[in-house]
Amino acid sequence: MIIYFSGTGNSLTVAQNIATGLNEKVMHMNEAKKLKTINDRIIGFVFPVHNYDIPPMLKAIIEKLDFPMVKYSFGIITHGGDKGNTMFSLKSLMKDKGSDLHYYSDVLMPVNSRIMYGLLTDKIEERISDSKTKCDAIVNDIKGEKQNAQKIRKNHLIAVMHNLADTNFLKKRFTPVVDTDLCTNCGICQSVCPVNNISVIKGKAFIGDSCEQCTTCMHWCPQVAIHYGKRKVRKEQQYHNPEIKLKDISKRNL
Ligand SMILES: Cc1cc2nc3c(=O)[nH]c(=O)nc-3n(C[C@H](O)[C@H](O)[C@H](O)COP(=O)(O)O)c2cc1C
Ligand code: SF4
Ligand code: SF4
Repeated sequence: MIIYFSGTGNSLTVAQNIATGLNEKVMHMNEAKKLKTINDRIIGFVFPVHNYDIPPMLKAIIEKLDFPMVKYSFGIITHGGDKGNTMFSLKSLMKDKGSDLHYYSDVLMPVNSRIMYGLLTDKIEERISDSKTKCDAIVNDIKGEKQNAQKIRKNHLIAVMHNLADTNFLKKRFTPVVDTDLCTNCGICQSVCPVNNISVIKGKAFIGDSCEQCTTCMHWCPQVAIHYGKRKVRKEQQYHNPEIKLKDISKRNL
């Protein structure tokens, strides 16, 4: 079983490619959230790096799950160039469950973060093309039950940077706001928010208090009505993986 999270589709394409190669199934983290245990022998996690670490919403879900039958586990991250302490955190989570992380790898992908990188739009085609070759190599590694996660160490400087990015000051700064003049009440942002933090009130989208600054709503809004305070987002700054459609993201946020 491969459990995944994906805001703009990069991790979903990687999860699907790996699942196809392994003849495994993919499960969105919000489906896994409904379970207590996953009884598979092989468990994989595919997700984006957020602020040098695991997205908090996924971390919270893994913390509550048990994997009593797991014999081999792997983590594959998609990212824009800074892997941070993500794999250390995933390994720690698995160890807390009396298990371990056996294999990890990463796939460099187009960046979807305004917070860290300012929505770079270059290298999209090149990175997506290279990612397919990388997925093939990962599938071969996993088929051979390769183990490379023994020596993962925490980088303490990166942990400081993660904690800085996680402060309320910065979080508030990068919590999206809806331009109600542009909002047409289509409900798309509500359907893609992975933590159900968006409601529609009096015909306009409203961002609640549980935002995890994942930027998903901002990327998928067809009216480009979701901004960051005074920072306006432009159409060309929105991104989603070209192989992934809106329905692939929205239908899985349960
Ligand atoms: C809130 C946020 C934080 C991010 N932080 C990092 C980071 O620390 N390092 C990095 O390389 N990429 C970072 N990224 C970029 C994503 O990891 C990358 O674009 C990923 O492939 C997106 O996957 P998705 O399309 O499945 O959501 C961040 C993206 C977001 C939205
Ligand atoms: S996706 Fe954009 S236009 Fe649609 S409801 Fe949300 S903010 Fe309004
Ligand atoms: S409101 Fe937008 S940025 Fe915040 S968690 Fe939901 S989708 Fe992500």
